[in-house]
Amino acid sequence: MVEKLAIEGGPPIRKEPWPRRSQFDEKELKAVINVMKNAIEGTGSLWRRGGRECIRFEREFAEFFNVKYAVAVSSGTAAIHTALASLRLNPGYEVITSPITDVGTITPIIYQNLIPVFADVDPETMNITPESIEEKITDKTRVIIPVHLWGAPCDMDPIMEIAEKHELTIIEDCAQAHGATYKGKYVGTIGDMGSFSLMAGKHITTGGEGGAIITNNENYYQNVMIFSRSRYSPWATIRFDIDYPVLNYRLTELQAAVGLVQLKKLPQIISKRRRLCMKLAKLISDLETVSFPKILNNTEPSFWFLPLFVNLEKITVSLDKFVDALQGEGIPCGARYTVAPMYEYRFIKQRNTYGYSKCPWTCPYYGQEINYHDSCPNAKKALDRVITLPIHESCSEKEIEDIALALEKIEAHYLAR
Ligand SMILES: Cc1ncc(COP(=O)(O)O)c(C=O)c1O
Repeated sequence: MVEKLAIEGGPPIRKEPWPRRSQFDEKELKAVINVMKNAIEGTGSLWRRGGRECIRFEREFAEFFNVKYAVAVSSGTAAIHTALASLRLNPGYEVITSPITDVGTITPIIYQNLIPVFADVDPETMNITPESIEEKITDKTRVIIPVHLWGAPCDMDPIMEIAEKHELTIIEDCAQAHGATYKGKYVGTIGDMGSFSLMAGKHITTGGEGGAIITNNENYYQNVMIFSRSRYSPWATIRFDIDYPVLNYRLTELQAAVGLVQLKKLPQIISKRRRLCMKLAKLISDLETVSFPKILNNTEPSFWFLPLFVNLEKITVSLDKFVDALQGEGIPCGARYTVAPMYEYRFIKQRNTYGYSKCPWTCPYYGQEINYHDSCPNAKKALDRVITLPIHESCSEKEIEDIALALEKIEAHYLAR
């Protein structure tokens, strides 16, 4: 006899609250106090100019990824914007990226007066495919931004081949993929530049908000420094002239001090998340109503969140009802990741940008029309059946077993027979 679902008045699988992420300890506290003390005593600064923490953070971030350069910036959005701006492209060129991502991947493209173009995804990973990227290439394409969604690496070898063939620049959006590997290489080190978000919800944070760009290319590095550090970069100071409009996307010394401590915690965070998510993969492998996402050969995701795909044709209820039932059993989860593919968001559909101009789409350098309608059917299909689970490093085996038990219980009620 199967027990009643909690949403129908039965006892839930789990009564205790979901564990809170315990991200910080005395080490971050000490680091912040130290920077503040130095600022009070006049031996340090809160501002990166005159301080040591941002420079140390950049050095250690670059060492972690084994690249020549890292630049700390104020957010993941700022990192994408800075990486794009460092290319010094004319307006009206196209940037191919993912329709399933945070808006922080897309708005910098628009702010650089470039045209976002959306490649379709593999519905079992939600990452853009090399085949779809190739289909979307035109004589206007200059950049590809592969997004390693939920910490799962995109298929980078064929993407790099496409980039080489068409002379395109690759900016890897690793905002959700700190420490994920593709054929033994960290994502972010395969393309021309890697961009990271370091806001509080990510694997590690620089004290609430932050971001970083990594590269081995000196020219990009210099432009990244000039654009994001404004007039305080070694190559452009307030006393001299400025070659092009730059922004202030600088990180503070307090943030960098937190980031330095957090960086040391990253390997354990990744390995714990991997262990827990792969345990769940095993526990639910016989279920018919849900599927674990596909993991490409020779890749190791870093699991920012865990997507599961609900097999809609095998259940007797809607996705939302399925999620209600799972939440009822005490498992926090969400239906869908973004409400729709990015091109269905109002600001893109209505070309709502600078006043009434509809730039960059009306930019004379572009001189053509783009129709996004239904351009990524697999993205839509994936979003209509995905649920997201917040499995993090403060979870234990118990949480994973509870998720599996709750999914089994729900399957017993909702499996279409
Ligand atoms: C894939 C992706 N790109 C970019 C961003 C933007 O990062 P931030 O929120 O730090 O600006 C995020 C943030 O969640 C993201 O997930």
